[in-house]
Amino acid sequence: MYVFLMSMIDCKQITKSFGNLKVLKGIDLSVSEGEIVSIVGPSGAGKTTLLQIMGTLDKPDSGEILYQNLNINKLKDKDLAAFRNKNIGFVFQFHQLLPEFTALENVMIPALIGNAKQSEAKKRAFEILDFLGLKDRMEHKPAELSGGEKQRVAVARALVNKPSVIFADEPSGSLDTQNKTELHQLFFDLRKEFNQTFVIVTHDVQLAQLTDRTIQLKDGVVVMS
Ligand SMILES: Nc1ncnc2c1ncn2[C@@H]1O[C@H](COP(=O)(O)OP(=O)(O)O)[C@@H](O)[C@H]1O
Ligand SMILES: [Mg+2]
Repeated sequence: MYVFLMSMIDCKQITKSFGNLKVLKGIDLSVSEGEIVSIVGPSGAGKTTLLQIMGTLDKPDSGEILYQNLNINKLKDKDLAAFRNKNIGFVFQFHQLLPEFTALENVMIPALIGNAKQSEAKKRAFEILDFLGLKDRMEHKPAELSGGEKQRVAVARALVNKPSVIFADEPSGSLDTQNKTELHQLFFDLRKEFNQTFVIVTHDVQLAQLTDRTIQLKDGVVVMS
């Protein structure tokens, strides 16, 4: 049983349109430190848009996002990029690993962007890949890895800078049942180990049921949270 005391992310009246299409119509939403929240809703409901805005990859038309009371809308682009690199990890539906690089190198990249030395980046990437059971696969390029392995490498890449928040957009969407179950278990293991906060967009009813709270997006608003 987890007790959540500290607010990690607060979204206040987030709106976002693409041309005439109003995708988010005033989203109010808070996520606590160490909480694992799922976001569900029909295709086209704006789940990815919301995740990208919460994750600072995109900007809302109006509204505010606060991380532990830091208003990130007020950060300059350069400071925002540094904040994101240090504090936030992303796992996408399709792994988006760079095909020319090995698993180890893919995982090292965010650490290098964060100005870690080559040796330090390598050490951290090695440790996290080992933790995820990929020690024997890390010199391989993505094309030589299975779907489940690629997605675990993508998780390792999201974790290498030890972010406090991880956003995942349909992370198990392309996996078979066993790999799916393992990936879901991993999120809970990571929370136990590092007290990380997770916001996961999913179609997977089973995963949504496992999370602490499910947020439903419909017609641009939160209908249940
Ligand atoms: N960059 C964009 N330009 C124009 N329309 C977009 C863009 N991104 C998303 N949309 C539209 O916004 C709506 C919500 O998209 P999205 O957030 O991807 O939904 P979901 O992830 O819930 O399926 C969809 O109708 C989509 O076509
Ligand atoms: Mg989506």
